[in-house]
Amino acid sequence: MTTTLWAVSDLHAAVKANRPRVEEIVPAHSSDWLIVAGDVAERTELIVQIMASLVQRFDTVIWVPGNHELFARGTDRYTGREKYTDLVNKLRSLGVITPEDPYPVFGGVTIVPLFTLYDYSFRQPTSTVEEALARAREKEIMFTDEVAIAPFVDIRAWCWDRLAYSTRRLSRIEGPTILINHWPLVQEPTDRMWLREAALWCGTRHTRGWGTRYNAQAVIYGHLHMPGVQTIDGVDHIEVSLGYPDEWKRRTDPPAWPYPVMEVGR
Ligand SMILES: [Fe+2]
Repeated sequence: MTTTLWAVSDLHAAVKANRPRVEEIVPAHSSDWLIVAGDVAERTELIVQIMASLVQRFDTVIWVPGNHELFARGTDRYTGREKYTDLVNKLRSLGVITPEDPYPVFGGVTIVPLFTLYDYSFRQPTSTVEEALARAREKEIMFTDEVAIAPFVDIRAWCWDRLAYSTRRLSRIEGPTILINHWPLVQEPTDRMWLREAALWCGTRHTRGWGTRYNAQAVIYGHLHMPGVQTIDGVDHIEVSLGYPDEWKRRTDPPAWPYPVMEVGR
């Protein structure tokens, strides 16, 4: 018998047409593990409901937040960093492994859930953040993040806090890893985006060398809604997104869903 480590992201479960796709996330064996790389939904109740259903199906479930998990309104009880902390507490009580927990080991490989956000550094090196954002605004490219996350927290400062927290923990790991993050750890996948300026909201240059530095067998991410594998410096960067119905229905040769990252024999 084999045990499989599966991965999904960008479930966007608030979209009704995505619900049958969420139901497809089932293990081959009850001992299988599941990675959920963010953008489950926006409302805490729905995120918890979906994650609770996944916890019932899989032996172990590992989650990292996406930008949609962080969305809030001014009238919400928790916004910004507090919304994240509240989610971590609620998901932990279900038994989900979060970026705040000890890293689990699957077949000798340390599985590392990360939460590094973005700092608008995926831009032309010759322009400042302000110039790059102004250019995006001119082209009417604007992520919902700007009205649903940015009013409640300094995103760049939070990103840099997360980088320091993550490298402190990563540097203590011995042996091979699988790194998980909602946003890509390298800029290359964003080169294929239709709207190049959208890359501003897609990661940080500071994670560029992490795949090799921390001995990653693979990097699992989502966010771009462009599933597939890109090998950079010998490391496979695997996007495991579903995305929105008009995106997944259009795909002619979609990767497996959920995506099998690794198998171990028993
Ligand atoms: Fe996202």
